[in-house]
Amino acid sequence: MQHCLESALPRALPIDGYAIGALICLKSYLGKRGIPSLVVMNNFMQRLRLDTVTPSVSDMPLFPRRWAEYYQVVTGRPPRETLLMALDHFNSEALSCSRTTVGFAVDLGCGDGRDTAELLRCHWRVLAVDGEPDAIALLRNNQNIDRTYLETRVQRFEDLTLPPDVDLINASFCLPFCPPSHFSELWREIETALRPGGRFCGHLFGDRDSWAVFPDLTHHTRQQIDQLLTHFEVELLNEEEHLGKTALGEEKHWHLYHIIARKR
Ligand SMILES: C[S@@+](CC[C@H](N)C(=O)[O-])C[C@H]1O[C@@H](n2cnc3c(N)ncnc32)[C@H](O)[C@@H]1O
Repeated sequence: MQHCLESALPRALPIDGYAIGALICLKSYLGKRGIPSLVVMNNFMQRLRLDTVTPSVSDMPLFPRRWAEYYQVVTGRPPRETLLMALDHFNSEALSCSRTTVGFAVDLGCGDGRDTAELLRCHWRVLAVDGEPDAIALLRNNQNIDRTYLETRVQRFEDLTLPPDVDLINASFCLPFCPPSHFSELWREIETALRPGGRFCGHLFGDRDSWAVFPDLTHHTRQQIDQLLTHFEVELLNEEEHLGKTALGEEKHWHLYHIIARKR
C-alpha cells in the first residue's frame, strides 16, 4: 500500500512541498494504524487536494548536463553543415586576404572543437569559448590542429563578453543551453560583436522540442526566431521537426532551427 502511493502519486501528479508533507503524515498514520478505511482515505485525499497543486519552476527537473559523455561520443565527428555553408558564403565574397588569416571567428560552445578545427584548417583566427574546462582541455590537446591562431576561453554564456568586429560567430547546438533569463543579453552580445556584413551560424531549439520541459533551457517559437533575426539578412533558416535520437542514444522529439544570417 505504502509502496503504491509512493510510486504512483509523485509520478502522475504535480506535487509540491505541501503535498509531500501530507504524504509523510499519511505514511506515519499507516505505520501506526495499518491500512485505513476507505472513508478515512477518501477524506485524507480530499484534504490533500492534489488537483489544485501546481509546481513552481524551482520544483521542475533541470536538464541533466552530461558533457563528458557527449565529448566522448562525438570525438572525430565532422564540422557542422551550417558552418561549412557559412564558410562558402565568405569564400564567394572573397574576404580580404591581406592578412595571414582569412577572418576572425568566435566558436561559442565549441565542445571538443569539431568546428574550431575546421575554421583553423581554413586559416581563420579563432576564439573558442565553452563553459566546461574539459571541453577546452580536449580542444587544446588535439594534436591535429595548428594552434597558432587559436585563443581559448572557459566562460559561460551567462557572463559572455566578446571583442568587437568579429567576422563570424558560430554557435552549433549550444545556445539553447543558456538559461532563458540570460538569453536576451547573450543575443545582444552576439549582435553587437559582429561587424556589419559579419555572419551568425548555428542552431536554436523550437518550442515543440522534447527538452522544452526543462526550465533552464531556452526554446523559441518561429515568431521569436524571426524577431531575433530582425537585424540580419537571413541566408538559411531551416526548421526541422522529427522523432530521433540524441548523441547519447536517447529518444527525443527534435524541433530545431538551422540558421545562417548576415548582419545588416
Ligand atoms: C551539445 S554541445 C555542442 C558542442 C559543439 N558545438 C558541437 O556542435 O558538437 C553544447 C556545448 O555547450 C556548452 N555549454 C552548455 N551550456 C553552456 C553555458 N551556459 N555556457 C557556456 N557553454 C555552455 C557545453 O559545455 C557543450 O560543450
